[in-house]
Amino acid sequence: MKKIHFYIALTILSITFIGWNNLNVDTLEPKNDDLIEKKIDSLLAIMTIEEKIGQTVIYSSVEDVTGPILDKNYTTYLKNGQMGAIFNATGSAFTRKLQKIAVEETRLGIPLIFGYDVIHGYKTIFPIPMGEASSWDLELMEKTARIAAKEASAEGLHWTFAPMVDISRDPRWGRIAEGAGEDTYLGSLIAKARVKGFQGDDLSNKHTVLACAKHYAAYGAAQAGRDYHTVDISLNTLRETYLPPFKAAVDADVATFMTSFNELNGVPATGNEFLLKDILRDEWNFSGFVVTDYTSINEMVLHGYAENLQHAGELAMNAGVDMDMQGGVFKNHLKTAIDEGKVEISRLDEAVRDVLRLKFKLGLFDDPYKYCNEAEEANIILHKDHLETARDAARKSIVLLKNDNNILPLNNSKKVALIGPLADDQFHIIGNWAAKGDRDGTAVSVKEGFEAQNKSFKFAKGCEIEGGDTKSFKEAIAVAKASDVVVMVMGESERMSGEAASRSNLKLPGLQQQLISEIKKIGKPIVLVLYNGRPLNLSYENETVDAIVEAWFPGTSGGHAVTDVLYGDYNPSGKLTVTFPRNVGQVPIYYNMKNTGRPEDAEGAHSRYVSKYIDVENSPLFPFGYGLSYTSFSYGKPVLSNQTLSNNQPITVKTTITNTGDRNGEEIVQLYIKDRFGSVTRPTKELKNFKKITLKKGESQTVEFIISAENLKFYNNNLEFKNEPGDYDLFVAGSSNHEFTNSFTLINN
Ligand code: NOJ
Repeated sequence: MKKIHFYIALTILSITFIGWNNLNVDTLEPKNDDLIEKKIDSLLAIMTIEEKIGQTVIYSSVEDVTGPILDKNYTTYLKNGQMGAIFNATGSAFTRKLQKIAVEETRLGIPLIFGYDVIHGYKTIFPIPMGEASSWDLELMEKTARIAAKEASAEGLHWTFAPMVDISRDPRWGRIAEGAGEDTYLGSLIAKARVKGFQGDDLSNKHTVLACAKHYAAYGAAQAGRDYHTVDISLNTLRETYLPPFKAAVDADVATFMTSFNELNGVPATGNEFLLKDILRDEWNFSGFVVTDYTSINEMVLHGYAENLQHAGELAMNAGVDMDMQGGVFKNHLKTAIDEGKVEISRLDEAVRDVLRLKFKLGLFDDPYKYCNEAEEANIILHKDHLETARDAARKSIVLLKNDNNILPLNNSKKVALIGPLADDQFHIIGNWAAKGDRDGTAVSVKEGFEAQNKSFKFAKGCEIEGGDTKSFKEAIAVAKASDVVVMVMGESERMSGEAASRSNLKLPGLQQQLISEIKKIGKPIVLVLYNGRPLNLSYENETVDAIVEAWFPGTSGGHAVTDVLYGDYNPSGKLTVTFPRNVGQVPIYYNMKNTGRPEDAEGAHSRYVSKYIDVENSPLFPFGYGLSYTSFSYGKPVLSNQTLSNNQPITVKTTITNTGDRNGEEIVQLYIKDRFGSVTRPTKELKNFKKITLKKGESQTVEFIISAENLKFYNNNLEFKNEPGDYDLFVAGSSNHEFTNSFTLINN
C-alpha cells in the first residue's frame, strides 16, 4: 500500500531528523508544533518538485459549479499527485473515494484537504451573513458557524471558504449579502466570532473545519458596486476600514486566507506582495496558507499585470500565494519558472510547508478518513437542535423597519391575506451560497409557518418575483378584500445577490411594487415582509405600507421565525448593519462618512452651496444601527467618570436604559464617538462599543462602557496608528442617528 510506503519513507527519514525516540505511533499525532515541523522537513526532503507543486494546487470536482471554468480532468491530476486539495466534493462516501486515490494511488500518499463554500450553514441553513449580523449577537454567530462546521465535517469536509470579512458600503454589490455590513469595528468582532465558531480551539477535533478569511483585500470597495471591478482607495482607508476584520481573523488564529479578484491601487490582490508579504506575514505573523480565489492568478493577464500565465504564476508565488485555485497555473508553469530561476525553490518549500502543517494539524496523517463517517453524517445533518438554532437565528436577525399604529404584532383573531411571490417559497428563502441546503422539502415557507401555528389566513401568490404578468393580481385582490390585514412576502430572488449579482437598480424587482399599489387601493393595512440580500430602495414601500419586516433570506427555519415575529411570539430586536438609501443615486452611503467643508446643515451656509443633492436629501431612509421593537426604550443621559482621558487612564460611560413599553424586549445599546478634528479628517461618528441587553417591561438597566485611549487611535498621514489629544463627542443610543450628548478630552500623557 502506498500509504505504508509513505510512512516507511517518513520513518527512515525521521531517524535522521527527529531521532528514534519519536518513532512510535505518537509521532503521527499532531500535538507538538516542533515535531510537526520536523515531520514536514522529513517529507520535503523526499518530495520531488512536481510533488511539491502538487500540494499547491486545488481543483473543483464537477459536483458543484462555483466559477466559470471547470477542468474535468481533476481525477487524473489527483492520481498523478498533482493536487493537494479539492473543493466542491462533498459527502462521506464521495470524499472517502477521492481520499483513497490520494492516499493509496500516489507515491507519497499525502492526504487531500476537502474545501467547500459553507457560508451560512451546510444543510441546516441560517440567515445570510448580512442578515445574521443584524442580530449583533456574537455568541449566536459563533454557534451557527460551529453547527455549520459540524454538519460540513460530518460530510467529509475539512475547510470552509468563510467567513467573508469584506466591509462593503455599496448595496449594488451582490456580495454585500455575504459579509457583516459596513462597519469595521462590528465586522471585526463578527469575523472573530465566525472563525472561532468554524475552527473551535482544536483543529484535530473532527467536528471543526479550517476557516478562510476572504477576500483579501478590499473586494467590497469595487468601483460602482460592479463585481470584480477595480479598487482604488487610499492606504488610510485600506488600513482603517478594510483591513481590520482580516487582522481580527488572524488574531483568532484563522487557518487560511483567500486572495480577492480585484486589483488594489493598480496591483491585483493575487500578485500583491504588499498585502501578502508585508502586511499578512511580516506585520501580522500569519502562519496558515493563502489560497487564491478561483482562477485569479490567470486573471492577472487580463488585468494587464502579467505578460502571460507563467509570469502570472511567478508574480503570485513570489508575492506569497501558497495555493492556486482552479487556474492550473502552478501545475502547468511553476516548474519552468523554478528551472528558469524566476521562483526560488525555498519559496515553494515555504508554501508546501504551510499546507502540510495544516494537514498534520487536522490529523489527516493519522487518519485520512477521520471525517468520512456515513453513520455520524446521518445523525448530525439537520439535527433538530440545529433547526431550532436556525429558527432562533432567523428571529434575531429580523429587523422591524416600520410599524405604524402598532399594526404588528398581529392579533390571532384577525383574518390575514397572505400574498406575494415569496409567501409560499422554499427555494429562495435559504438565500444564495446555501451550500447543501435543500431548496424544497426541508425549508419552511411563511405559509407553512402560519399553518404550523394554525393561523387564520388565505393565500394568493399575486405575481412572480421577476417578469410575469398581472393575471394573478385578481385573485390576490379578492383575497385581500376578504381579510382584515394583508401580509405581503416579497423581495429578490436568491440569484439577485451573492457573487456576480450586482444590481444598478435597488427597487423591488418585477411587478411587485405594482401589486402593492393595487392592494393599497383596497384600504386594508399592509405588512410587508422582505427577503433580500442587500439594502433595497424602499422609499415607495415606506410611504405606502404600514409595517416593514426585513427578514433577509432567513434560512431553513425562516417561515417559523417570520411567523413568530409577526404574531409577537418573538419581539424583534435586530438592528441594521448596513445603511438603506433613499435611492440608488445616494450610493455609496454609510453612517460614518466625513463631514466635508460644506455639510448640509452648516451654519450660515447659503442653502444651495452645500454638499447635497438637489433632488433628494442626504439622510438615508434607514440608518445603520436602526431597528424597531414592539416595546420602547428610553435612554438616560450618559454619565462620564471623568471629563479627561489619558493614555494610561480610561474613562467609563454609564447610561441607564428603561423598557418603557408593555412587552419584554431586547435592545442593542450602541456607543458612538466623534473626534472633532485631527491631523487627517475624522468621520462624523464611529461605533466604538455596543451591548445587547434584555429588559422586562418597566425594567431599567445601567450599561457601562469603557473608553480607552486605544479606542481613539487612527491612521495618520504617515500611516502611523496613533491617537491625538483633543476633544471628542459621544452619544449612547439605539441607532447611529442621534445627537451627541457628552464630550471629553484626551490629554497627552
Ligand atoms: C469564487 C468566490 O469568489 C469565492 O468566494 C469562493 O470561495 C470560490 N469561488 C470557490 O467557490
